[in-house]
Amino acid sequence: MNDPGRYGRSFAEVFDSWYPGGDEQDVVEHLRRLLPEGGTVLELGVGTGRLAIPLADAGFEVTGLDSSEEMLAQLLGKSDSAVRVVHGDVSEPTDWPEGPFDAVLAACNLLLNLADPAAQRRCIQQASLSLKPGGVLVVELQRLVLPGEDGPTLEVRTVEDDLVVLIATRADRSTGSVTGNHVELRDGHPVRLRPWRVCALDVDELDGWCSAAGLSLAERSADHRGTPYDGVTAATVSVYRRADASRANL
Ligand SMILES: C[S@@+](CC[C@H](N)C(=O)[O-])C[C@H]1O[C@@H](n2cnc3c(N)ncnc32)[C@H](O)[C@@H]1O
Repeated sequence: MNDPGRYGRSFAEVFDSWYPGGDEQDVVEHLRRLLPEGGTVLELGVGTGRLAIPLADAGFEVTGLDSSEEMLAQLLGKSDSAVRVVHGDVSEPTDWPEGPFDAVLAACNLLLNLADPAAQRRCIQQASLSLKPGGVLVVELQRLVLPGEDGPTLEVRTVEDDLVVLIATRADRSTGSVTGNHVELRDGHPVRLRPWRVCALDVDELDGWCSAAGLSLAERSADHRGTPYDGVTAATVSVYRRADASRANL
């Protein structure tokens, strides 16, 4: 069930073309507002460096932790990258690089990729321990709405002349998880399955875990530009600030 390398095995070779992003400069500006110049950033699930590279280019000292050698190989292949990479599982405290950092960044729904709530919570606790006093944990989280009933769904992601990508999913409400496959169909090629799994995390639960780990909510918006969060929008960007270490209740 716990397979932290699965995402990268499935998506490393297509990640940059399938998920081009678009908010990278917003993330850079957001961290500029939060951190001292040249501050230290640990990005969890750094992937191919979509965010880490622009952050390093902006003068931050960036370390990226990721459980996929395939994703890290893509990042390292971008030869001008100044990002320091560490291979490891963010839900295993012993895999974390030594801090402390001015910021820990969990972008792009990183927490949903973890195996279960216990793994998500371990990650939050370790984030708190890895921050300098006054440092910030920045979490992007999309509300995952599970279908009313367990069972399979199928949607069409891409239709091009020579490529169709379908997304087949199966929800399990007892674990709050969704298991899926991107099904890639190319004329004349074998069918390619790209499996993944996500585990839901409610923002209120996240707030509770952060609070117990000594992190207090400093700001919440709908994106890195500061668009107000209305309590309805699925997307949240939350900034938690590390309190004095002696008050943490882990
Ligand atoms: C959706 S990608 C996002 C990459 C990057 N943060 C971005 O915004 O472009 C998620 C990344 O998290 C990594 N990941 C998934 N589970 C992980 C885990 N347990 N520990 C460390 N990294 C993990 C994957 O390998 C992948 O590189």
